[in-house]
Amino acid sequence: MDGGDSRIADLRARKSRSQAGGGAARTDAQHAKGKMTARERIEDLLDPGSFVEIDALVEHRCRDFGMDKNVIPGDGVVTGHGTIDGRLVHCFAQDFTVYGGSLGEMHGLKICKILDLAVKTGTPVIGLNDSGGARIQEGVASLGSYAEIFFRNVRASGVVPQISVIMGPCAGGAVYSPAITDFVVMVDGTSHMFITGPEVIKTVTNEDVSFDDLGGASTHAKRSGVTHFVASDDSEALEIVRDLVGRLPSNNLERAPKLIPKDPEDRICESLDSVVPEDPSIPYDMLDVIQEVFDKGSFLEVQPEFAMNMVVGFARLGGESVGVVANQPKVLAGCLDIDASVKAARFVRFCDAFGIPLVTFTDVPGFLPGANQEWGGIIRHGAKLLYAYAEATVPKLTVITRKAYGGAYDVMSSKHIRGDYNVAWPTARLAVMGASGAVQILHRNRIATAGNPEEERSRLIEEYEEAFANPYQAAALGFIDDIIEPSETRKRLILALKTNMDKTEERPRRRHGNLPL
Ligand code: HXC
Repeated sequence: MDGGDSRIADLRARKSRSQAGGGAARTDAQHAKGKMTARERIEDLLDPGSFVEIDALVEHRCRDFGMDKNVIPGDGVVTGHGTIDGRLVHCFAQDFTVYGGSLGEMHGLKICKILDLAVKTGTPVIGLNDSGGARIQEGVASLGSYAEIFFRNVRASGVVPQISVIMGPCAGGAVYSPAITDFVVMVDGTSHMFITGPEVIKTVTNEDVSFDDLGGASTHAKRSGVTHFVASDDSEALEIVRDLVGRLPSNNLERAPKLIPKDPEDRICESLDSVVPEDPSIPYDMLDVIQEVFDKGSFLEVQPEFAMNMVVGFARLGGESVGVVANQPKVLAGCLDIDASVKAARFVRFCDAFGIPLVTFTDVPGFLPGANQEWGGIIRHGAKLLYAYAEATVPKLTVITRKAYGGAYDVMSSKHIRGDYNVAWPTARLAVMGASGAVQILHRNRIATAGNPEEERSRLIEEYEEAFANPYQAAALGFIDDIIEPSETRKRLILALKTNMDKTEERPRRRHGNLPL
């Protein structure tokens, strides 16, 4: 073997050591838990053969606790770039078979390099997390690398889409990188996120809670709202990421990819003419409206199990990627509460950051009454949604299907906070509040002193409904641009989107606003 050959053989041996990760036994253990390895995950995520690895030969520099005798090239995280549907993305996958995927100095710096490259090249970044957290042997060096990652996540926020997939443990301060990124996907049964684990909680507060109840996918999907999507296994999680990436622009200066629409742009949606019940107290499913209006089968709901009185998600309208925000009259009558406001505010801000137009469907009786809501800060949380809509300069299209009462009317992308195209269905009711509440406040004495109080109340309610249970006062004031037949909603929204796609709207220059956090 000449010098060149032996050097090539040496390079191959080093790379193959890196590729082997923690070895066959640990790989088998990973598979036995129903988890893929880091490399299998990357292969599943990216277009076949497109992955280009970076830093496969990086090693840790720790000399304590016998770590000098345990050096695995790659240091427990596989990093690089590849394509999804032909579009460039950067990614990293923590390798649990190497020191439990724990994050030491060099492991962290590899992730930092990927985040830097993603920003420099204007491409989405996808993190596949499976880690025991800060590498204990490396002490503060690993904490330093975590903070370098957090800093970069913040700097990249609103510049390139950042997606985190949790495919194993993610504990302590490590949760804050995913929390800062735009979307979190968790795998049911194998992923956990928490700041302090069940044992610490038991010691400090004497509460008994299991891993799953504390920080499993279902908990974060339904209770905390930390995760946006839940997958049943690794492969499904990666499929969700591929779908999501296809709906987003690569960076804040580009547009999301447009698909050639298969669904006719002028399709009449006949079922919508009868979707709203006569009786305003009877609910209907806003998802039926969404499925009918947007390109067939294009709706991807975000956080479908959290704050279900508010629906948010991505869809396509005439092939364009749009963000959808809608009150859900089926849950809490579609009231705005703390969770719904925060959920929608974050989604609106994401869409605005990446130039994705917003389509809003309004059917909201108001903010949810209750001492717990008030004490929980509905004032400042509700303000987040108002702030987000008012701040957003992407095309904003609004359809009022039924109730638009009180402050919630203003909040839900109204004309006054610069909705670009605001329309109502004939079933819409725009008023300060619903009829019975209004009559009680305005005519309490009159009802009390009437010969037949209940008859008088009914008459007054009817009179109020005659005046306000319709969209015509708002149309007369120009607060809505048109009253449309529900069946033509799709057609009209597609036209409005085309009209507003290239609009320009400026806000005064400032360092940044002061979002009511
Ligand atoms: C170094 C670690 C490690 C860590 C796991 N390992 N976590 N090595 N630092 N943080 C190693 C284990 O020693 C073991 O090595 C191998 O990874 C696999 O771990 P197991 O415990 O055998 O696996 P499992 O039973 O599946 O349990 C996984 C686990 C558990 C739940 C993650 O390992 C665990 O609780 N780890 C510690 C978690 C933790 O407290 N991390 C610090 C969180 S605070 P061998 O060689 O024996 O196979 C934090 C702060 C971040 O991260 C701060 C950011 C600002």
